[in-house]
Amino acid sequence: MSRFLNSEESYGIIAQVLHWGVAALIFVQLPLGLYAANLPVSLARLRWLSYHKSLGLTILVLVLLRLVWRWIDAPPPLPGTLARRERCAARAMHRALYLVPVLATLAGWLYASAAGLSVNWFGVLLIPDLIAKNTELAPLFKVLHHVLVGLLALLLIGHIGAAARHALVLRDNVMQRILPAGWLEKK
Ligand code: HEM
Ligand code: HEM
Repeated sequence: MSRFLNSEESYGIIAQVLHWGVAALIFVQLPLGLYAANLPVSLARLRWLSYHKSLGLTILVLVLLRLVWRWIDAPPPLPGTLARRERCAARAMHRALYLVPVLATLAGWLYASAAGLSVNWFGVLLIPDLIAKNTELAPLFKVLHHVLVGLLALLLIGHIGAAARHALVLRDNVMQRILPAGWLEKK
């Protein structure tokens, strides 16, 4: 049972699966959005955008689920070997990595609603619009979606860079603790 929950030294299986599940979907979602948005106006564009919107709402639900799970099962404390300002930076970065995906997906949903592009989740569930169709507000939400997605991409570069620094330079256990035990030997 304890392997499923976070311990003082490591994330549990549930937090790990949620982390890597959301990460994998975001890595699909970024190129999917770019591909769909750059297709010429056509049925194919609408279809790919529909996959993008459905996947985006799936990501929103999973990130909210992660937040609930984090509240139930507190994450392991950061290693005491890190300087206080590094721990503060890591905490701020983790908060932003929850907040920005939520805001980016909400902006996408607002844009889709305002543009009259309602979400039909993978063709099986009609999702209510957040606001009524509004052609004046739609371009604003579109820009907001782009800006927040850009910010998320920048945060991810910083996050992956920090993880690489822990694994390759500091050689502490910060990378191992989000991976199933034994993937990386502790040095
Ligand atoms: C190759 C990609 C990624 C790597 C190598 C990676 C690595 C890590 C590592 C090592 C931690 C643990 C930090 C610690 O122990 O304090 C972590 C936590 C975290 N990662 Fe990632 N990550 C990746 C992708 C992502 C993505 C795409 C997201 C989505 C926004 C994300 C969001 C988070 C969050 C929010 C935490 C904090 C978890 C918590 O304590 O509640 N990561 N990641
Ligand atoms: C974390 C989740 C999301 C990411 C990473 C993401 C990423 C992107 C990217 C990279 C683009 C292409 C931007 C461009 O160059 O034009 C895009 C466009 C778009 N996204 Fe998202 N998106 C997410 C969630 C959503 C959601 C939840 C919706 C709606 C329910 C949505 C609706 C759209 C729409 C309609 C476009 C087309 C905008 C245009 O015409 O340029 N996205 N998204």
